[in-house]
Amino acid sequence: MDISSLFEVNLDPDANAPLYRQLHSAMRDAILAGRLNPGERLPSSRALGKRLGCSRNTVTEAYDLLTAEGYLEGRIGAGSYVSRTFAEDWVRDRPALPREQKNAGPPRLSRAGRALAEMGSDAGPDMNTPRRDPIGPDPAAFPFDAWARALARAWRRPDPDQAFRGDPMGYPPLREAVADYLRKVRALNCGAEQVMITSGAQHALDLVARLLLDPGDAVWIEDPSYRGARAALAATGANAIPVPVDKDGFDAARAAEIAPDARAAMVTPSHQFPLGVTMGLARRMQLLEWAAIGDRWIVEDDYDSEFRYTGRPIPALQGLDRAWRVIYAGTFSKAMFPGLRLGYLVLPPGLVEAFRAARLLLDGHTATVGQLAMAEFIADGHFPAHLRRMRVLYGRRRDIMLHHLRDRLAPFLAGPPGEAGMHLLAHLHRGLDDTAIARRAARAGVNCQALSAFHVGPNRRKGLVMGFGAVHEEAIPGMVERLAGILRDGTESG
Ligand SMILES: Cc1ncc(COP(=O)(O)O)c(C=O)c1O
Repeated sequence: MDISSLFEVNLDPDANAPLYRQLHSAMRDAILAGRLNPGERLPSSRALGKRLGCSRNTVTEAYDLLTAEGYLEGRIGAGSYVSRTFAEDWVRDRPALPREQKNAGPPRLSRAGRALAEMGSDAGPDMNTPRRDPIGPDPAAFPFDAWARALARAWRRPDPDQAFRGDPMGYPPLREAVADYLRKVRALNCGAEQVMITSGAQHALDLVARLLLDPGDAVWIEDPSYRGARAALAATGANAIPVPVDKDGFDAARAAEIAPDARAAMVTPSHQFPLGVTMGLARRMQLLEWAAIGDRWIVEDDYDSEFRYTGRPIPALQGLDRAWRVIYAGTFSKAMFPGLRLGYLVLPPGLVEAFRAARLLLDGHTATVGQLAMAEFIADGHFPAHLRRMRVLYGRRRDIMLHHLRDRLAPFLAGPPGEAGMHLLAHLHRGLDDTAIARRAARAGVNCQALSAFHVGPNRRKGLVMGFGAVHEEAIPGMVERLAGILRDGTESG
């Protein structure tokens, strides 16, 4: 019998897949469907090639691949056979796996898995579409050419000891550059040896929570707060205790009344997320004093400190700490772009060795591709130049946005001046429902999120968190106008 009739194959030289791949799939399907039986001898490559009208090489390559995958076995000089190790019942009549698992309940997740899945789905579709960070930088303003050149230069002849496999703490020149920047600009008290490069600030928070907290440990978090901070705690089973934030930021005295036995505090002192307030100096000293007594940690998330437009820049908490209780997390997501996934931790010296050792096991290190390029981008002066340009650009967008909000929306909302970062907060008047308004606004192409969605405790303030980094100047008046319409409707129907 002509064995090639057992597998349907019509070799097509114009198809995308090469001929040997087409032959390979046809034979594999025939074996899996049981049309070719275990132990069956296959024709020689020359004979099959002739019958199929292809070269002998094509057949040999297909046979080689099927042999490597275990479908065929061959003995030199004795030809190729369908593998005998295929159990017949496995091969024959195997029903296709249905896409939907009927009658099966939801898969059982761990407690942390359930908490995370719930939190993630709570973020809702408004958060995920369009797939753009709503308070992130403007892709149209990013210097892709300069970045591509930095990538090429960094990778043309890299030091293989640094590039091929990375250091768990990060690429040393990048760590040096980060430490240097943080000392000068954020008044941090640190050397490069304390810097660990992470895959973003979120990853940094996750590492800190995993390495320092046990399930059930009480941790003060800001209310409202960044969802990612809560997610990092949920992943470790730590007990997040919401502490209301007021116009002076997080209040350690209030927190101590709510949960006196907390082991850590996760805070955004420079530019509270999402309220946008700055933690005052007295509050900072109070929090540091709390941490200095006993085995307590402060996690300082300095996620957008590169951008401050007015007011005096306040040095980071880490630089004021005299007891090595502050763990500082930062990111390149705002100054560069979020998909880069590069951030950093500045660790107290006593934690460096434990973090290095744990990181080695957890994920080895952050991908070297971006790290080398980032170091090059900084060394060439592109990073500071880009930052300077973005400060001017985002500063202008902020001014225009503030002007239009105040001009057109004063009857509905009021907010702090938005001295830093890439978002503004507007508190809503008259008991308007911020969730419904944000949903309608998102549908109308207005970049905003409901403040109440960032709250954890029962006292949910209503407002709109509005990103301005990626909103072009000429689009701002129209956007504010559309928002005014939605707010008017909201008051009329509400
Ligand atoms: C307050 C805050 N912390 C941390 C992050 C995490 O940034 P990434 O993981 O992209 O570095 C963000 C992102 O928007 C943020 O808003």
